[in-house]
Amino acid sequence: MTGTFDITINKIQTSRVSEYDINNVPFGKCFSDHMLVAEYSDGKWHKPVIMPYADVPMSYSMSALHYGQAIFEGMKAYKNDKGEVSLFRPTENFIRLNKSAIRMAMPEVPEEIFMGGLTELLKLDSAWVPNSETGSLYIRPFLVATDQAIGVKASETYKFVIITCPAGKYYSDPIKVLVETNYFRAVHGGVGFVKAAGNYGRSLYPTKLAQQKGYQQVIWTDSTTHQYVEESGTMNLMFVIGDTVLTPALGDTILSGITRKSVLALAHEWGFKVEERKISIPEILTAHANGTLQECFGCGTAATIAQIVTIGHDGKDYDLPAVETRKFSTRVDETLRNIRKGKVADTMNWMFKIS
Ligand code: PLP
Ligand code: COI
Repeated sequence: MTGTFDITINKIQTSRVSEYDINNVPFGKCFSDHMLVAEYSDGKWHKPVIMPYADVPMSYSMSALHYGQAIFEGMKAYKNDKGEVSLFRPTENFIRLNKSAIRMAMPEVPEEIFMGGLTELLKLDSAWVPNSETGSLYIRPFLVATDQAIGVKASETYKFVIITCPAGKYYSDPIKVLVETNYFRAVHGGVGFVKAAGNYGRSLYPTKLAQQKGYQQVIWTDSTTHQYVEESGTMNLMFVIGDTVLTPALGDTILSGITRKSVLALAHEWGFKVEERKISIPEILTAHANGTLQECFGCGTAATIAQIVTIGHDGKDYDLPAVETRKFSTRVDETLRNIRKGKVADTMNWMFKIS
């Protein structure tokens, strides 16, 4: 690559890939040979370096650790039957990372570093991309504040890093979710619409309480009335009620998911009625009672399509129709998988070829 940000590449001496069964590793625990690191200081980005995956040299006063100037993205690369590697809609992640950066008073990452760096990194670590039916290489780009200072102010130095890890299914089975009506994930004027690290930290305690009651995840509701559903765990929420595909409308309390956007595009293409609007708990429970609630699922990069089989609310469990009967989400899941694995034509131009 040429240009302002020529990338320095320090290759690993011997790849570690043969030490793992990359088609069968737990999510997010085994990291590929290389990572990309770019530094920001003196008001500008410096030349990125691709180097062997390693621990970060860091000061305990590093500002990200204290005040949470830390944002991230999650995306995936797929391998087709010919061994070619492609990314799913990476420009969307690039745009969203910079939206997060602006909200958190951090410098935007240049496209040349994000896309150019990612391309070089994946070329180098293509052997780490699983080729199994449901496998992919999960990619974690992140930006953290690195000033060594504990005064509360926007940092003047940052590191943008990309690490990657082979991944299979995030949820091995359909999930039970609990409607959370005490804690909330996001508030108007807050940071729920961006991928700020603190959004995830704050979610862990309510999620732990739900898990102690036998649910895998929570359904987040709005912070003022707790009457309207927003997201589930780290996924956007979708329902099929009657002949309509429904999802909460975006706003500043909901992350604009790339999977959500893709599911809605397919629903439109297939001629479904689609509504993006407020969805209340009473509406869902009424649809459940009168038998029109046909499907409920979460969607996101890590989870892909996660079927929700039980919704817990106010001490009661509402069991939903069997997964085998869910025509829309099954078709979406299969279509997305086929597009990503290059098994059907990519008519929406979603795949970005690396090699
Ligand atoms: N909502 C939250 C809070 C998330 O963390 C994610 C995951 O990135 C999503 C939704 C789904 O977004 P995407 O489909 O872009 O992965
Ligand atoms: C993703 O779906 O990529 C996420 O960010 C969810 C999670 C692993 C944090």
